[in-house]
Amino acid sequence: MSSEVILSSNAEELEKAIRDRRSVRTFEDREVWKEDIDKLNAFIQDLDDPFGKSIEYRFLKAKEHKLTSPVLIGEDLYLAGKVKKGHLSDVAFGYSLEQIVLYAWQQRIGTVWIAGTLNRDAFEKAMDVQADEVMPAVTPIGYIAKKMALRETLMRKGVKADTRLPFGQLFFKDKFETPLSEDDSAICKALKMVRLAPSAVNKQPWRAVVCGDTVHFYEKKDKGYDHGEDGDLQKVDVGIGLAHFVLMTKALGVNGSLIEQDPGIALPEATEYIISWKKAE
Ligand SMILES: Cc1cc2nc3c(=O)[nH]c(=O)nc-3n(C[C@H](O)[C@H](O)[C@H](O)COP(=O)(O)O)c2cc1C
Repeated sequence: MSSEVILSSNAEELEKAIRDRRSVRTFEDREVWKEDIDKLNAFIQDLDDPFGKSIEYRFLKAKEHKLTSPVLIGEDLYLAGKVKKGHLSDVAFGYSLEQIVLYAWQQRIGTVWIAGTLNRDAFEKAMDVQADEVMPAVTPIGYIAKKMALRETLMRKGVKADTRLPFGQLFFKDKFETPLSEDDSAICKALKMVRLAPSAVNKQPWRAVVCGDTVHFYEKKDKGYDHGEDGDLQKVDVGIGLAHFVLMTKALGVNGSLIEQDPGIALPEATEYIISWKKAE
């Protein structure tokens, strides 16, 4: 793999990308260079896939496939992905596409997760989505316009896109009753990156309980997102947060692995265990 296609593994640069990234809905009205698509493609080929779900991505020309999204302006190209339905598929999808989103940002390429505001039938046709597959979300790929369209500014205000819940409402120590205090540990630094992740309607459904060197991740469910086998968008969100966590711990030189080992901690309502991260011995 050439060093050019690696998502920065330097903690400072990674943190900068995570902090600066925002959803981009207004694009310069020009085609994406072939060189940039090639770079993204090379990155996709080498993506880390700890869930073993082999997500399939396709770059799709908007005009050729009649793809539209009413929230976007100036987009010409999309990246869509599909995955076989199954346990942890949504989480794996979030984990995967978010790495592309961050890498794209580092190349000054704008993206936005789009799951609801799109002509889904046209996208699913272009992706040839089969009955046992889901296409949880897509993103436009393009150059960020200098000025945000009014529509985009209003949309950001509508979902309070620039705010996040306080750290202590998202992350806990040993049990959900005890908010985690912020410190300089790698786990804490990585959880701060989880907090900045994008999520559908900015609902921020990720929760984590830290027990020593293990972090248990949960989904705090809002109504209307969980369609079982057919997909749960908030599990995609948890996958996105998880990507930020794993990338940051790695960048800080801390290795760990993802394991399914529900610790059986008493849960608040509408909260589901997803997966745990365990620091390597
Ligand atoms: C899984 C997922 C689905 C999303 N779907 C849409 C969508 O359909 N339309 C849209 O305009 N934004 C969508 N968003 C973008 C969110 O609204 C955005 O990430 C959130 O408001 C936070 O803003 P930020 O990404 O600029 O930090 C989605 C985000 C995620 C993670």
